[in-house]
Amino acid sequence: MSEPLRDQHATDEPDETSGATASEQPGGADRHVERVLGRRAQALADPDRASEGYGDGHDRYDDYDGDQLDREERSALRRVAGLSTELEDVTEVEYRRLRLERVVLASVWSDGTAEDAENSLRELAALAETAGSHVLAGVLQRRQRPDPGTYLGSGKAAELRDVVLAEGADTVVCDTELAPSQRRALEDVVKVKVIDRTALILDIFAQHAKSKEGKAQVELAQLQYLLPRLRGWGESMSRQAGGQAAGGQGMGSRGPGETKIELDRRRINSRIAKLKRELAGMKTHRDTRRSARRSHQVPSVAIAGYTNAGKSTLLNRLTHAGVLVDNQLFATLDTTVRRAETTDGREYTLVDTVGFVRALPHQLVEAFRSTLEEVVDADLLLHVVDGSHPDPEGQISAVRAVLADVDATDVKEVVVVNKADLADPEVVDRILRQERYAVAVSARTGEGVPELMQVVADELPRPDIDVEVLLPYDRGDLVSRVHDEAEVLAETYEGEGTHLRARVHPDLAAELDPFLAATA
Ligand code: GTP
Repeated sequence: MSEPLRDQHATDEPDETSGATASEQPGGADRHVERVLGRRAQALADPDRASEGYGDGHDRYDDYDGDQLDREERSALRRVAGLSTELEDVTEVEYRRLRLERVVLASVWSDGTAEDAENSLRELAALAETAGSHVLAGVLQRRQRPDPGTYLGSGKAAELRDVVLAEGADTVVCDTELAPSQRRALEDVVKVKVIDRTALILDIFAQHAKSKEGKAQVELAQLQYLLPRLRGWGESMSRQAGGQAAGGQGMGSRGPGETKIELDRRRINSRIAKLKRELAGMKTHRDTRRSARRSHQVPSVAIAGYTNAGKSTLLNRLTHAGVLVDNQLFATLDTTVRRAETTDGREYTLVDTVGFVRALPHQLVEAFRSTLEEVVDADLLLHVVDGSHPDPEGQISAVRAVLADVDATDVKEVVVVNKADLADPEVVDRILRQERYAVAVSARTGEGVPELMQVVADELPRPDIDVEVLLPYDRGDLVSRVHDEAEVLAETYEGEGTHLRARVHPDLAAELDPFLAATA
């Protein structure tokens, strides 16, 4: 792990607006904040509390069936945050902090059935647990539209406060992206920290990103999310300090000065600009690799699908690669490209993409746009859906919405209804009937996988130029390319070299031109 060590307790709640340590700011309000933070740090250091989440997480993930080391790596991240610069504090504080918390979920349900609303809340619970929190309760309010002031109506917000107290929760997670003012107003009522779905998803992505590019993309999305909320964090922090600790003396009500916020804003903006430059560089590199693959005309298949649909498991089935499989949301963040072979021996690449989720935060769609270009370029898209999920059709449309957003709708799509071993056969049949191209499989048991492989073989473009060549023995490179990229019809070894009859694509045909054998 490249992340340097930092003491979680000491840094869990630094000055939220500036990200600076309080000791750097001699002002009265800041000293006050420092005292309050010191007190909270003690609360966190309490052994009962400190063991929450981490120990819990272990119990919860007992049925985990993937790479253990990987999970430990991630859990370790939960406890050890980076020794960061001031700026990193701003983002890390808000996003890395979600982990050891006891949360109550809240959602406003405006349209759809009660079942839809409950499914949505269940998904939010899964997201919160993936982020490392402990979910205590969830509340739903039926309302024509969310309250512009406090998200839930004011009466329900007060009831939510009671639930928070009764459960001993320290965080409320709302199933939406809250306006900065809504978050603050609701926080005022429930008197614990309020987080929205976007912050939660960003947090999970931040925990799971591994590659340099993935990390940069997530940080960019986090900063973009944070920028309009900078003032909000500070004010709400000051109010909390004033209200809870100073007994309403008003000491903490003096928020950090406008200048400080301006300074943070400038620093964040310049960090955003730097990240964008770095990402543009990485994209060029990736584009080059992709076009190298394309120029060899190796066909490509992309796997996309809702988070937890079984994409990585299927990738492992199709390629025997040891990719992490985890019954957590967003176990896969970074696009992986693997080599695979069709049933008739043609090579293709298989690209696993980031898991999708309903209402993927727009900052993330933007961030992952370039990664998802792999899908746009693919010859075939395997859209994996969890057939055992209560609402597979909802997942299919959520994935399609993101794909439309990144203009990936022209690629031929085969819906792969996965987890057929668990799913209700009627639901599987329903999807198979609805979709033009669909196959039912179980990536776990292997059922249906041969049929899927046949579909892949049939759908990938085939090389179509017949050649007969005599390749000298020092051109083993060309022999292996013919094997990888073409359909070999006959092969014999002769005195002067390898005699091959094959069906190849135009580029390879051009390279083989000097070696054409005189046909009999
Ligand atoms: P993200 O990385 O979150 O996008 O997930 P993913 O789509 O890559 O899913 P993954 O392959 O990690 O699988 C998620 C969970 O579903 C794991 O616990 C798998 O073991 C399980 N799973 C995958 N395929 C099947 C299947 O065919 N049947 C059953 N019963 N479980 C499966």
